[in-house]
Amino acid sequence: MSRPNVLVTRPIMDSPLARLQERCDVTVHENEFGIPRDELLDVVAGRDALITMLTEKVDAELLAAAGPQLKIVANHAVGFDNVSIADCTAAGVLATNTPDVLTETTADTAFSLLLTAARRVGEGERFLRARTPWIWGPLMMLGQDVHHKQMGVVGFGRIGQAVARRAKGFGMTVLYSDAIQLPAEVEAETGAERVELDDLLERADFISIHTNLTDETRHLFSHEQFKRMKPTAVLVNTSRGPVVDEAALADALESDEIFAAGLDVFEREPSVNERLLDLENVVIIPHLGSATVDTRNAMGHVAVDNVFAALDGTKPPTLLNLEAFTG
Ligand code: DGY
Repeated sequence: MSRPNVLVTRPIMDSPLARLQERCDVTVHENEFGIPRDELLDVVAGRDALITMLTEKVDAELLAAAGPQLKIVANHAVGFDNVSIADCTAAGVLATNTPDVLTETTADTAFSLLLTAARRVGEGERFLRARTPWIWGPLMMLGQDVHHKQMGVVGFGRIGQAVARRAKGFGMTVLYSDAIQLPAEVEAETGAERVELDDLLERADFISIHTNLTDETRHLFSHEQFKRMKPTAVLVNTSRGPVVDEAALADALESDEIFAAGLDVFEREPSVNERLLDLENVVIIPHLGSATVDTRNAMGHVAVDNVFAALDGTKPPTLLNLEAFTG
């Protein structure tokens, strides 16, 4: 019997890759800048499974180029705004993501951006590395306290809740805004209270964004929202860049409308807004939310579990489109 044929669009960790290779013929696309669209369209034909990254758009055109043999698109990320679930379902292709295994790691990233931005860690580092002359002074590089302040979490799914638990550990009180009211047990465990977004913007000292990117959340944060925030507020985004209007954020940071921001994601990734690059009061890292050895191994294994299930005709563990499952 011929072995299933799988395309992996970027190198993944050795352990899940070795598992995949035991059972399948695997092509890994090695270009460090990702696979250009034209090339991707050329190499998908005849694959049984694709392991894709958040950098590849999975739509009707790609699925048509892949052809009828394709059973699954296993996205190697929890976010799947790059994947048209409707197009996958229409093509009879299963779509999966990698939730849960990256929750705590991404929450750690959000909290490290929060602390770094609040306490001006990046700015202090740049200052010393520039060999700037200095001496300790009572008014030097003053930041904002984090402990016992008001946290605001926008989007209270798994990662938002994990951020709230960290905030609780810092003695912070937590507000959240979300389309749904979470069960009383979740609110009790995290100590979080649900409020309207505008209320959260006005009351929170720290705001961490954990919404999916959808038509409704694109530019959820723009001029109006920054105006509502406290001048001492810090905004953190580890979800998806387009949730924040970067030009409006640069205006707010330049005019001290808010105190600082910490960004892991960008509106036009991998480009970073030039104005943000020039500002001291923004901490920027290159989409490292889930980037630890353990978590990237775990994400790779979830993607491989999903591929194997699809090849076996069983339901993939983290299936996004049940309608496409005929097993
Ligand atoms: C995701 O999984 O969606 C992150 O953005 C990358 O790990």
